[in-house]
Amino acid sequence: MVSLKAFAASALLLLTTHGVGAQDSLQVDLNSADSIRSAAKTVARNLMGYYKGDEPGQTIGILPGPPPQGPYYWWQAGAMFGTLIDYWHYTGDDTYNGETSTALIFQAEAPANSYMPRNWTASLGNDDQGFWGMAAMLAAEVGFPDPPEDKPQWLALAQAVFNTQAARWEDEDCAGGLRWQIITTNGGYNYKNTVANVVFLNIAARLARYTKNESYAEWAERSYSWTAGVGYIDKDYNVFDGGHVEANCTDINLVQFSANAALLIHGAATMYNHTNGAERWRARVEGLLNRTTEHFFPNGIMVERACELEDRVQCNVDQHSFKGYMHRSLATVAILAPFTRNDILTLLKTSAAGAVSSCLSDGTCGFRWDAGSYDGDIANGPAGQEMSALAALSTLLVSEQFAAPLTNGTGGTSVGDPDAGSDNREPEELVPITTSDRGGAGVLTAFLLASTVGCLVWISGPWNEA
Ligand SMILES: *[C@@H]1O[C@H](CO)[C@@H](O)[C@H](O)[C@H]1NC(C)=O
Ligand SMILES: *[C@@H]1O[C@H](CO)[C@@H](O)[C@H](O)[C@H]1NC(C)=O
Ligand SMILES: *[C@@H]1O[C@H](CO)[C@@H](O)[C@H](O)[C@H]1NC(C)=O
Ligand SMILES: *[C@@H]1O[C@H](CO)[C@@H](O)[C@H](O)[C@H]1NC(C)=O
Ligand SMILES: *[C@@H]1O[C@H](CO)[C@@H](O)[C@H](O)[C@H]1NC(C)=O
Ligand SMILES: *[C@@H]1O[C@H](CO)[C@@H](O)[C@H](O)[C@H]1NC(C)=O
Repeated sequence: MVSLKAFAASALLLLTTHGVGAQDSLQVDLNSADSIRSAAKTVARNLMGYYKGDEPGQTIGILPGPPPQGPYYWWQAGAMFGTLIDYWHYTGDDTYNGETSTALIFQAEAPANSYMPRNWTASLGNDDQGFWGMAAMLAAEVGFPDPPEDKPQWLALAQAVFNTQAARWEDEDCAGGLRWQIITTNGGYNYKNTVANVVFLNIAARLARYTKNESYAEWAERSYSWTAGVGYIDKDYNVFDGGHVEANCTDINLVQFSANAALLIHGAATMYNHTNGAERWRARVEGLLNRTTEHFFPNGIMVERACELEDRVQCNVDQHSFKGYMHRSLATVAILAPFTRNDILTLLKTSAAGAVSSCLSDGTCGFRWDAGSYDGDIANGPAGQEMSALAALSTLLVSEQFAAPLTNGTGGTSVGDPDAGSDNREPEELVPITTSDRGGAGVLTAFLLASTVGCLVWISGPWNEA
């Protein structure tokens, strides 16, 4: 965790030693699709500079990590490959399709193929597994080239994640919901948080729409009802972080991160569309969009306010990638819930203009999009900043066609397996968890650090366990 002072010092160092101040900023005409494509290509190339998984001796499919080996936890590469699938979908540039496909198949880990690889159990939360599952689901929805027949298929991979998570739904504590961590001995196993439940909702909703199997839709309804029922989503559509089983999930951690809101509004819009416009889902989409706009887009430019505002601790490596998930989710919401289209397009454009203003001509992008120039924020793993800027640029092209996510009945070719993942062994059987693994990782671990180190809205120590 890097303090604001350390950040300022590193930014200064960067400016003086590398002469960054002299490099031109990235030039983009946001009214020209060609110009957007060309800028996105520059940023994508910059992003993939951080990926070494295709080099000899490296592990396929991961970004350098997890800490202390490198800055990135396992999940973030899953999110990166999802970002690259959207990049291909919106721009048509297939430069990274091969690496993406190889990575998504390798990290699923045969024979179970459910994104619970042995190597990464120490950082395996439902959210971590879910980010890979959502990338596989996206591949099915956008017609990303299907893997060879002897390899796992995109739809089946998403179903495997869904099935293993549905089996972990647990009614004894807090009357339902998923826990954050999968491994009982990982720190955070007693935390039932929003991200685990909205990742599950997100995949369930998309499987329902893709396959027209109502079992998935029921799970999406149940997950929403539970998450709102315990108060993690309030009546004004604030989306909070989670609570602990010891407190029956009433000790709600009130911090709001955009990743939670983003995955939730995407899931809600998918259910709105799947139900052919059900009023309850319309109200949720409207409410979430309204609150998201006000909270995360002050002045039309996205701000990760829980950790980006100057009086807060600095955002960590995970959080530096969150803006990208919001932009990607909102673009899909604009497709699936057309009544949101005008508002979302306006928002995506003003915010992308901010993102672009943070980039240099070589595609290096900053984290603060409202600063008017590159912020020199390299301390927290630049891949997240690149992913966010790439998402902001690519999703601007949504207005070129508003192509609906494919379904099994409308051109989707991915082959599913309703029972995928059901013969999966729980990771406990695969790896003895040592005490030193207990710090865990997971998407939200550093949220927890932020809460203990910093001055977020809650003080007392649900997170002291880490
Ligand atoms: C697990 O780690 C080993 C040793 O580094 C590596 O050879 C293997 O490819 C990794 N598997 C996955 C799925 O990351
Ligand atoms: C625990 O929370 C659930 C869900 O909010 C509620 O239905 C239940 O009554 C609570 N149990 C206790 C013992 O308070
Ligand atoms: C529908 O999904 C459920 C839940 O995964 C599964 O058990 C069932 O077999 C599926 N039905 C069909 C017809 O695929
Ligand atoms: C669902 O999405 C499609 C594709 O954008 C759109 O044509 C349709 O109107 C949407 N359904 C509803 C109920 O808005
Ligand atoms: C959100 O809803 C409130 C209350 O209905 C309304 O006053 C406000 O303008 C809305 N904000 C946005 C950004 O839609
Ligand atoms: C998906 O579509 C294919 C080809 O049209 C069909 O054979 C298959 O039964 C469909 N699967 C489901 C689950 O509806």
